[in-house]
Amino acid sequence: MSEAGSALDRAPLRGFKDFYQYASTTRVIAGRDLLGSTGFELQKEGARRVFVVTDEGVRGTGLVERVEAGIEDGGLEVAGVFDEVPQDSSTEVVERCAAAAKEAGADSFLALGGGSVMDTAKVADALFTHGGTAREQEGFFLMPREDDGMGRPLDIAPLACIPTTAGTGSEVSMAAVIKDPEEKVKLEIADFPLFPRLAILDPETTRTLPAHIAAATGMDAVTHAIEGYVSVDWSPHQDARSLQALRMIRTNLERAVERGEEDEEARGNMLIAANLAMTISLGSVHAMSHPAGAQFGVPHGVANAIHLPHVIRHNAAGGADIADRYRDVGEVFGVDEPEIGEALAAHLTELIARIGLPTRLSEVGVPESGIPALVEGAMGDGTTLLNPVEMGEEDYAALYREAL
Ligand SMILES: [Fe+2]
Repeated sequence: MSEAGSALDRAPLRGFKDFYQYASTTRVIAGRDLLGSTGFELQKEGARRVFVVTDEGVRGTGLVERVEAGIEDGGLEVAGVFDEVPQDSSTEVVERCAAAAKEAGADSFLALGGGSVMDTAKVADALFTHGGTAREQEGFFLMPREDDGMGRPLDIAPLACIPTTAGTGSEVSMAAVIKDPEEKVKLEIADFPLFPRLAILDPETTRTLPAHIAAATGMDAVTHAIEGYVSVDWSPHQDARSLQALRMIRTNLERAVERGEEDEEARGNMLIAANLAMTISLGSVHAMSHPAGAQFGVPHGVANAIHLPHVIRHNAAGGADIADRYRDVGEVFGVDEPEIGEALAAHLTELIARIGLPTRLSEVGVPESGIPALVEGAMGDGTTLLNPVEMGEEDYAALYREAL
């Protein structure tokens, strides 16, 4: 049931909305040979002693040394490097990272890595600045504010992000998702101070990205663009970003996956497309993928690729206004059929298979017996409220079974 007048009302996905808000406060710089300017740019954000957050995989590429040199070239200091972020970061890692930054006497953060690294740096920065535990940060718009919580949100230490995958868009979002291993859930934290101050998009950072990661993270970007476009929390501002992101993905995703190292243009454009696609106004694909990640370790982009076609079929049958929105998405991909949900889902399933990703949950270690717990996780995920069609347990159970 929808509440009349709520911002999340399941009102038609067309017309003039009663209310929406839009913010994108991250300064983005994009182009070639930008890593050497890291210090020069970070200084403009108030950084002096920078704490670098990364992972072992990125360590192995030599990018950390190049970014450290870039920081020092700008006259700033590297206070320390934390390279222990796992593929799926957790509350424990975030708390360890914040403590290490304190210990190092840092005054700012630089995240160099994929979504897990960037989300770790964001939440670590919040703990570094305000204290407390990662779990206490959970929720939307709950970070400390002036005037007894009614005023302007308090800034956290300057944070810059240099993504090394083209997909998550975390470098330009106010959200972070962190695994709580005890509860086996993903904590979602979102508020304005988590917008990084700076994002640097340089195709050099994805030059050696393995094809399967380029494919999976690319599908995360596709999912953000499509879910953002059909979310009940849609807005004309985000529509513009979603459609341009999809146009760029259409011409660059397969090239970036197949030609990788030799196609700088495709890699650079995918970094920008992922950045444009980012939104926290998502839907049931993310609601289904978060528990698949938390409970079975399915990589986020892979889980989205598996769930996306099924959710499209389900949603497109939910109303003419929703089907029209998928028709706009189909137009970008040259798909124009009366049964738009079916046609768009089939088109995307072919794309997903072409870029070498699995299309079934059973291929990635999810057993049929896992479905009830997944359904519970999806029902409890905040993005369920943003799906254009109201979702119940039966709906999710049917979709997981179809995806099995
Ligand atoms: Fe995502």
